[in-house]
Amino acid sequence: MSGNEQRYINEAFESNYIAPVGPQVELFEKEFAVKTGISYAVALSSGTAAMHLALCELGVVAGDEVFASTLTFIGSVSPVTFLGAIPVFFDADYKTWNMDPGLLAKEINACAERGRLPKAVIPTDLYGQCADLDRILEICTPYEIPVIVDAAEALGATYKGRGAGVGARAAVFSFNGNKIITTSGGGMLASEDKEFIAQARFLSQQARDAAPHFEHSQIGFNYRMSNILAAIGRGQLHVLDERVRVKRQVFTKYKAALQDIDGIEFMPEAPFGKSNRWLTVILISPEKFGTDRETVRVALEAENIEARPLWKPMHLQPVFNPQITQITRINGCKKAQNPQNKKKQYPCRVVGGEVAEDLFDRGLCLPSGTAMTKEDLCRVIEVIRGCKK
Ligand SMILES: Cc1ncc(COP(=O)(O)O)c(C=O)c1O
Repeated sequence: MSGNEQRYINEAFESNYIAPVGPQVELFEKEFAVKTGISYAVALSSGTAAMHLALCELGVVAGDEVFASTLTFIGSVSPVTFLGAIPVFFDADYKTWNMDPGLLAKEINACAERGRLPKAVIPTDLYGQCADLDRILEICTPYEIPVIVDAAEALGATYKGRGAGVGARAAVFSFNGNKIITTSGGGMLASEDKEFIAQARFLSQQARDAAPHFEHSQIGFNYRMSNILAAIGRGQLHVLDERVRVKRQVFTKYKAALQDIDGIEFMPEAPFGKSNRWLTVILISPEKFGTDRETVRVALEAENIEARPLWKPMHLQPVFNPQITQITRINGCKKAQNPQNKKKQYPCRVVGGEVAEDLFDRGLCLPSGTAMTKEDLCRVIEVIRGCKK
């Protein structure tokens, strides 16, 4: 917390709006829209909820295909399965670690020939770096395929000078506890389309029709953000720019201390944008460094320093099964059994995947908190340097 939040929390208590509605929620949405440069926004209980609502509004239904990044967090794509639709996972490219637009263009052309286009495309802005949105829009727009940017990790980042998610049909943000700013848990769906956001707001509040009693002509969700959490969000917005500055400084310090080591590379920054460097991520090449990523992670853990591998690509997740390709669906997902764990698996398709697999094998997310001291950073750096063989 930055210190600004308590003032707004007090305002929420004084107004006695302790509910998923209230003045703080409305103000948070307005202030967020100004900050991001996306005109309309609805505050929700999570980024996952925001993605779910976006896909509902696009009319995604069972059997549809939705294209997404494979190198991402599950919350980006689980909403596809909520609707019984099929995720198609796209590989990353080495320049950005985000959805490879070349692969996207090829696959969309192939889909057009087959006469079965995806219902939506969801590029993730990975670790605070924007995907090449203009290129993705150029590919999707002729076919009228809507693009929903998963900017959960990229608040404060820019793409060609504009904010993350600007220009897409809608963008999803997360205020989970680990994000650059947080409301403990929460999310935002933002769009230039006023109606799209108004309808998402309606669906997020149990789709209650205008009537003095409780009248419902659609099924909705209980996804609205609470007034108290919105108060925290308002306080956090004040420090977003500063957080980006410090995150980038953390990256610069790691880079200065480790870039001379053979076998260590840093996540590149694409020339079209400015990453918020939510996490500093390195690649360790064992043939040059002498030890692999896992050995370094364990060495850090032995010093009580938490570091994590990259997101495990979605196409490698046991919950998704690319083998289930022939799907006749009427209601929801085809159920398949994984013989090992007897858990339900979901069908998917994969386009490429080798780059994401390589990044996952070699990648390590370093501690990147904005409260890290010089000494904290030195400890991490020393352990990593000590692993070099
Ligand atoms: C890329 C990405 N997408 C979606 C989400 C889901 O957001 P939430 O945790 O708020 O549901 C997250 C973060 O948690 C994320 O990192």
